[in-house]
Amino acid sequence: MQPHAPLRAIAAEVLLSVEQGQSLSQCLPPSLLRLPLNLRPQLQALCYGTCRWFHRLDDELQGRMKKPLKSHDRVVHHLMLVALFQLRFSQQATYAVLNETVEACRAMDKPHLTGLVNGVLRSAEREGAPAAANDASRYSHPGWMIEKLRHNWPDDWQAIVDANNTQAPMTLRVNALRFSRDEYLQLLLDAGIDARATRFAPHGIQLARPVPVDALPWFAEGAVSVQDEAAQLCTTVLDLAPGQRILDACAAPGGKTCAILESCPQAAEVVAIDESAQRLPRVQENLDRLDLHASLLQADAAAIDQWWDGQPFDRILLDVPCSASGVIRRHPDIKLLRRESDVVPLAQIQLGLLAAMWRILQPGGRLVYATCSVFPQENHRIVQRFCKQQTDAELMTTEALWGRTMPAGRQLLPLNDGHDGFFYAVLEKPEL
Ligand SMILES: C[S@@+](CC[C@H](N)C(=O)[O-])C[C@H]1O[C@@H](n2cnc3c(N)ncnc32)[C@H](O)[C@@H]1O
Repeated sequence: MQPHAPLRAIAAEVLLSVEQGQSLSQCLPPSLLRLPLNLRPQLQALCYGTCRWFHRLDDELQGRMKKPLKSHDRVVHHLMLVALFQLRFSQQATYAVLNETVEACRAMDKPHLTGLVNGVLRSAEREGAPAAANDASRYSHPGWMIEKLRHNWPDDWQAIVDANNTQAPMTLRVNALRFSRDEYLQLLLDAGIDARATRFAPHGIQLARPVPVDALPWFAEGAVSVQDEAAQLCTTVLDLAPGQRILDACAAPGGKTCAILESCPQAAEVVAIDESAQRLPRVQENLDRLDLHASLLQADAAAIDQWWDGQPFDRILLDVPCSASGVIRRHPDIKLLRRESDVVPLAQIQLGLLAAMWRILQPGGRLVYATCSVFPQENHRIVQRFCKQQTDAELMTTEALWGRTMPAGRQLLPLNDGHDGFFYAVLEKPEL
């Protein structure tokens, strides 16, 4: 496709890549560069919105087609999904959606499908949205995920899927080394940005409406970072103190590494590890902007004989790779990317990382196990399995106003106009 291909044709290509297994954070940035600056927010909104409502829109589209398109024309299926997203969920004028979609189909070298596209969208416009045929379509989530949520959270699953289908608020973490939260709230007010303090995280600010980061006062100078409130809570459970040697074992892109350094600038050392060579540089970028310092290592944290220098850590944050089922509203592509069969292998990795990190925790030290998942299989059940095999591990009860007490640890569920879904458990190793 040409560099100036229509916006919606590029959106269709991005969605096809997601269907083929790429995340939006992988395939969207290069596609944004193909558009002039003023069109980039629209591309982002089309891709995120269509992923968010994919299961509902796809159900409708399949119902409107006599047979699926051939695989080499599959991108046109996504082109129609984008148009359906606009018809059902945007204020865009219908004639513009129809005309531009047919034009885009032609520009994508698919002139033989313009009649079909036109017919499908005209009937969609004339007939309106059909009644949902099943829960996957009604709640716009994969069926297995709804079943799992219903099973795990019989009283909350509908609130969870509703929260997943809303746009998350933009939340900031004020760099306590630069400004107090009240001072920064005043700077926002002066800049005409409506905001309020977060309920639970001590340095958090939630904006009434998202703004580009360049619009935030002193952003480039490190006054503030974008981070969800639930993620910010890591510093409140780590019990940080000057002189500690701290490990952030799964660190990229470094949001929590930076939060730790801001709340404990007199740490003896902060080591940040990530196994991903692509993601680790983002930790350094964040540290540089905030003028903070940590020792970075690219390694499999669990392979301790390959990277550990033999000095135990007083604090370990283990923010494991997980299903990310608590952050779907920020990453709606998870609905398309995640499979039910991912959960058991992830749980194995999580338990393996926990066992390895325990070996390098100082006696008297504290380990915080964290996920952005709402599946107990990755959360309190991992901690319970670990405690069964590691009988000296002391599970601490975390008293907090946020989240709810689980048989092990605390679970936050995603809240409309509030924090993401997250899990924390605190384990301590007895003194020798
Ligand atoms: C949930 S993300 C971490 C987010 C990060 N803590 C933050 O707040 O910005 C999980 C990270 O773990 C990394 N990871 C996965 N397996 C790992 C392993 N065995 N050792 C080290 N890092 C790993 C992934 O590359 C990913 O960056």
